Amino acid sequence: MIEVQHLKKEFKMNKKYPGFKGAIKSFFSKEYTIKKAVDDISFKINDGEIVGYIGANGAGKSTTIKMMTGILTPTSGKIIVNGKVPYENRQENAKDIGVVFGQKTQLWWDLPLSETFSLLKEIYNISDNQYNERMKFLNEILELEPFMLSPVRTLSLGQRMRADLAAAFIHNPKVIYLDEPTIGLDVVVKDNVRKAIKLMNENYGTTMILTTHDLNDIEELCNRIIIIDNGKLIYDGDLTDIKTKYGYMTNIAMQFKNNADIEKCRFIKELDSSIEVWNEHHKTIISFNKNNISSTDIIGKVMGKLDVLDFSIKETSIEEIVKKIYKNEV
Ligand SMILES: Nc1ncnc2c1ncn2[C@@H]1O[C@H](COP(=O)(O)OP(=O)(O)O)[C@@H](O)[C@H]1O
Ligand SMILES: [Mg+2]
Repeated sequence: MIEVQHLKKEFKMNKKYPGFKGAIKSFFSKEYTIKKAVDDISFKINDGEIVGYIGANGAGKSTTIKMMTGILTPTSGKIIVNGKVPYENRQENAKDIGVVFGQKTQLWWDLPLSETFSLLKEIYNISDNQYNERMKFLNEILELEPFMLSPVRTLSLGQRMRADLAAAFIHNPKVIYLDEPTIGLDVVVKDNVRKAIKLMNENYGTTMILTTHDLNDIEELCNRIIIIDNGKLIYDGDLTDIKTKYGYMTNIAMQFKNNADIEKCRFIKELDSSIEVWNEHHKTIISFNKNNISSTDIIGKVMGKLDVLDFSIKETSIEEIVKKIYKNEV
């Protein structure tokens, strides 16, 4: 369904000089720097797959999505989606795809949602039958009815995201691009949005690419993940491999009286082979697999020996997984 070959995107930016004089100099300067946002990425995605496209902030995820949707043209390399080159044929391509950008709505701000859908029906030339069938399905999974008559600008973020999802799906596209579709949502809405995405994929076989910061999105929706960092692909494979090694890792950051450090915490490593200890910004981090040992166990043991001022517990983040991949631990 999707084939990406040696994809690159470079942004040319005016060289920046510091200060006010610098700003003026930058403005007139012909010097520029080049940012490689996407740097030689290749992958293939099959019909009906949901692939998680993940990486830290600024890794190049949105830039890749924008090229796949045809909004941006690659500097070099090639993309083929459903037999077409998206940036060469934007109008044709639009019929095949749906897009949700979590940070920015695709809907008409002042129109009531119901009119937005009527307009989309016309734009995509959807038959009455198909339209009604899909609206019924979308209403069931996204519960749009209560705010169908409200202008988009009056919707809450959660309502707006559900509406955006429905709008991206109304013409039954073959591919849907979801760029941070759960960003900023509360836990309950997140869960609804995930369920809806899953049902769309199951009922209609829609191919999906999902970028996210939330590992729970990935865990619920994807079997396969592609990880990028600094524009480069660093992992393409099973989620299970990553998950068994790191998905269940938890970190506890501890602060001690008298700045006690790593040395004094070493004893904790004897409790379980998954435990690692290191120092970070005046805190001692204890990392462990939560399937083997509980946070309470660890905290209890440490408190029994040392004067703990404060502690916080944190689940593994995408950033940490990326770090581990660099250390060749996957
Ligand atoms: N229009 C642009 N002009 C210049 N630099 C850009 C532009 N769009 C993105 N970038 C840069 O390219 C890199 C990748 O950005 P992006 O694809 O938005 O990352 P992500 O979505 O993974 O957070 C970042 O360093 C970003 O600052
Ligand atoms: Mg982005």
